[in-house]
Amino acid sequence: MSILGISASLRNRRFGYKNQLIEDLKKIKTEEQLSEFIKDQIKITFQEIDSLNKEKLNFEEKYNILKKHKGNRGLSNSEASLVYALWQSYINGSEIDYLSLSNIFEQETKDKVKLFKKKFLSCKALLVSGPVYFGDRGSLTQRMVEFLNSDDECMNHIKNIVYAGLSVGAKRNGGQETTLIFQMLDFLNMGCKVIGNGHETTSQYGGTLVAGDIGKLQDDSYGIKTALSTGKHLSEIIKKVDFSKKIKFHEIKEKHICNIFVLQDNDQKQCTSLINALIKNIKNKNIIFNVFKIFENNVHKCIACDVCPISYGSSEKYRCIINNKDDFFKKYHRDIINCDSFIFAAYSGQNFKNVKSNYQQFIERTRYLRRDDYLMGNKLVTSFIISEVNSNRNLHIRTLTSLVRHQNILTKPILVFKNGNAFVNMENIKKDFTKFCEDAVKVKGINSNTEYKPVGYEISLEKYNLRKEKS
Ligand SMILES: Cc1cc2nc3c(=O)[nH]c(=O)nc-3n(C[C@H](O)[C@H](O)[C@H](O)COP(=O)(O)O)c2cc1C
Repeated sequence: MSILGISASLRNRRFGYKNQLIEDLKKIKTEEQLSEFIKDQIKITFQEIDSLNKEKLNFEEKYNILKKHKGNRGLSNSEASLVYALWQSYINGSEIDYLSLSNIFEQETKDKVKLFKKKFLSCKALLVSGPVYFGDRGSLTQRMVEFLNSDDECMNHIKNIVYAGLSVGAKRNGGQETTLIFQMLDFLNMGCKVIGNGHETTSQYGGTLVAGDIGKLQDDSYGIKTALSTGKHLSEIIKKVDFSKKIKFHEIKEKHICNIFVLQDNDQKQCTSLINALIKNIKNKNIIFNVFKIFENNVHKCIACDVCPISYGSSEKYRCIINNKDDFFKKYHRDIINCDSFIFAAYSGQNFKNVKSNYQQFIERTRYLRRDDYLMGNKLVTSFIISEVNSNRNLHIRTLTSLVRHQNILTKPILVFKNGNAFVNMENIKKDFTKFCEDAVKVKGINSNTEYKPVGYEISLEKYNLRKEKS
């Protein structure tokens, strides 16, 4: 069972079924050697294209000649990004495998799809690297998602695996993040567990790299770090958690605390009531749910101080600069962090008449927890949203994109559709809620020494005091 690295570019250079890429990667011992390997491979790609440029051929003719090469040398930008991440996973102790989507879905045949399926069904994690096309993924990734979504065996397997993504665009702000978010949602909706890049690069949506022309990727040292840290994060997670493990949920004896934060609700408190009703269906008394009605509490806005958290010390101690005695975080700090999984919940109306919300200030106030070495991290999390038909606020997406930044494992959003007074998809909701609980108890013992490493600013009180002394 390994990490299956997928490269989703039409410009893939390693498209032969039996290409050497994995064997080549396994021989590399250091980051410097990796960088040299990629430089050499990019040079090969560049030279092949350059020599074709000397002949008077049109683009399609060049493309067809390139495709006739054996596919055992060179690297496209997406492949180079993938190589960074896959190598790091391997060095971190994971088995790795590689597949080029252009090999499978560019000119799809039954045999090719069979091969894809075989590899997919034997992977424990999927690492997808692709180019940004119009701020989104390209058609090869899209086709893969369509295929997975239409095959029952794949849809069963996908619930047991973890996904991470890398995207490469020609420009800074070219849409690398939107691509990752859309892809992340597809995988979440199929039931896959999703993670972002690791704490070395402050936990965002995955690897985001900039490279237009062949060879430019090597200049993007920060992007390369995001790829390396995505690979490392993925291998750390699959070493510690096995979502395919069959457990007898009702017999679990170990205590598991799940915190549910209701950030927004209507005047009938329907979100809170529905959650309480779903909790009653979970018959195992060792699973303890704490439901916090955040919408009724005082949640002070974050003041964006530059010393967050305000001191070094024990995580049990509340260390946000906001000191109002009735502030929710000040009052409940210990309860907030002492949990094993959590859910952010909200009622999403067509308007804000009769809706009370502390959604945004709650999210922003979690900053001191994130900056305190991800105190809310390394857990299975999801969002629970009651959405009135036509509310169109995409709260399930917004909560999950915030939660991935806390270094968490995301799972399928629980999205209740309300039409008039009826919740129209209740049967699915019961299943999704139970599935969340069953998977949440499998997440234990993940690396607790994740460290918040600020990029672009300083964080400590010591540094703050030093600056004050000097000024
Ligand atoms: C149809 C198309 C659309 C593109 N759209 C974007 C875009 O929205 N943003 C961006 O930064 N780059 C865009 N690009 C550039 C590619 O993402 C970029 O060149 C990438 O490095 C290609 O990776 P590859 O070598 O693995 O194919 C686009 C390229 C094509 C062909």
